[in-house]
Amino acid sequence: MNILVIGSGGREHTLSWKISQSPLCEQLYVAPGNAGTSAVAQNVNIGVTDFEALGTFALDKNIEMIVVGPEAPLVSGIRDFFLSDEKYSSIKIVGPDKAGAELEGSKDFAKEFMEQYQIPTAQYRTFTRETVEEGLGYLDALTAPVVLKADGLAAGKGVIIAESIEEAKSSFKEMLLEAKFGEASAKVVIEEFLEGIELSVFVLTDGKDYVILPEAKDYKRIGEGDTGLNTGGMGAVSPVPFAQGDFLKKVEEKIVKPTIAGLQDREMDYVGFVFIGLMNIGGEPYVIEYNVRMGDPETEAVIPRIQDDLTEVLWKAANKELAGTELTFTDETAATVVMVAGGYPGDYAKGDAISGIEKVSESMVFHAGTAHSESGEVVTNGGRVIAVTALGKDIPETLHKVYQSAEDIQWDKKYFRRDIGQDVLAYKI
Ligand code: AMP
Ligand code: GLY
Repeated sequence: MNILVIGSGGREHTLSWKISQSPLCEQLYVAPGNAGTSAVAQNVNIGVTDFEALGTFALDKNIEMIVVGPEAPLVSGIRDFFLSDEKYSSIKIVGPDKAGAELEGSKDFAKEFMEQYQIPTAQYRTFTRETVEEGLGYLDALTAPVVLKADGLAAGKGVIIAESIEEAKSSFKEMLLEAKFGEASAKVVIEEFLEGIELSVFVLTDGKDYVILPEAKDYKRIGEGDTGLNTGGMGAVSPVPFAQGDFLKKVEEKIVKPTIAGLQDREMDYVGFVFIGLMNIGGEPYVIEYNVRMGDPETEAVIPRIQDDLTEVLWKAANKELAGTELTFTDETAATVVMVAGGYPGDYAKGDAISGIEKVSESMVFHAGTAHSESGEVVTNGGRVIAVTALGKDIPETLHKVYQSAEDIQWDKKYFRRDIGQDVLAYKI
């Protein structure tokens, strides 16, 4: 079949790399893609929310399945767009409908959903401009630190962890009254701070049945030792040694099952990934957030561990026939190191020539912010430039490989964290 992947990051390169290995995949297209996806698929220069253009292209190329990478087209209703017009009836979409995408698009919606289906999460309340005074009163009754979340999508920046109630109050007022995050902070969720270790669990569902993918831990801060500004993600490891056996069973029973039951109860047309950000507090899982897509760079560590034909599994999900599907994972460890442009997540240069990718032998190189220059060279084209993933028998072996590969790849002012996986080594079982 012909397949279209939507997006342009390391996540989409990894998905395309895996999808293209399947005998079921005839032609693979990526819109808009990057320099890496052009090696496994054909890039198509259409933006991820240009539904009309994507629809026309899909009909023209006899696309049977569209796999949606990022959240923006989901929250804007890409599934609803394709399902609402008979002319697209031969195209199946992997990606939830607009109502389902609210689990990521609105923090208040996600909290209210968890409350209704008794899914463990932090205590919370939501406030608007009209209820600022009540919100300040609610903050007075809490003990610091407290967490403030802009309700809407804020490019990963809408969460503030305030170390004192005073700081929380001033941020809270800025968010609501001065629209610190624009419309995204027209509503603000205040929630208790959860103290524990974070990890992410990924589920693929057809709305009734589901498969659980390998879990992963990512590294969000720019600096080593988890310091400095938040980023899209600087690395990932899978599996997560502190989250095995009983803990993962608890995640399935207390979180995955009620979540899927909730999607059904709300009659959402949820076909796609659920990314569950979790805190492990003394062996008990609590949900920090839902995302309605795979994580990036978690995908780069998770997908290489899956031994099954991903295209077949996605096709089953797209057709709502996931029942009875089981996944097999390699028990090898995957580690991903994200190489970024110097200056990221602040200002950074684009267009720097990248060399040395061909020297990498023991790792997989997934492109994120890369493009081809007019002369055909691979150049930097974003903050997160390349994700390098290695598989190995344990964390030390894997890290050795992945860091050697990261040294092989060069461009002006490249940067990467050298401590990916160090924290989980301490939890080795
Ligand atoms: P989010 O944008 O929801 O992913 O939140 C960003 C980060 O803030 C999370 O990855 C956590 O590290 C942190 N965070 C969010 N909510 C909480 C919470 N209730 N307690 C502690 N940390 C949190
Ligand atoms: N790595 C975090 C995310 O994809 O949201």
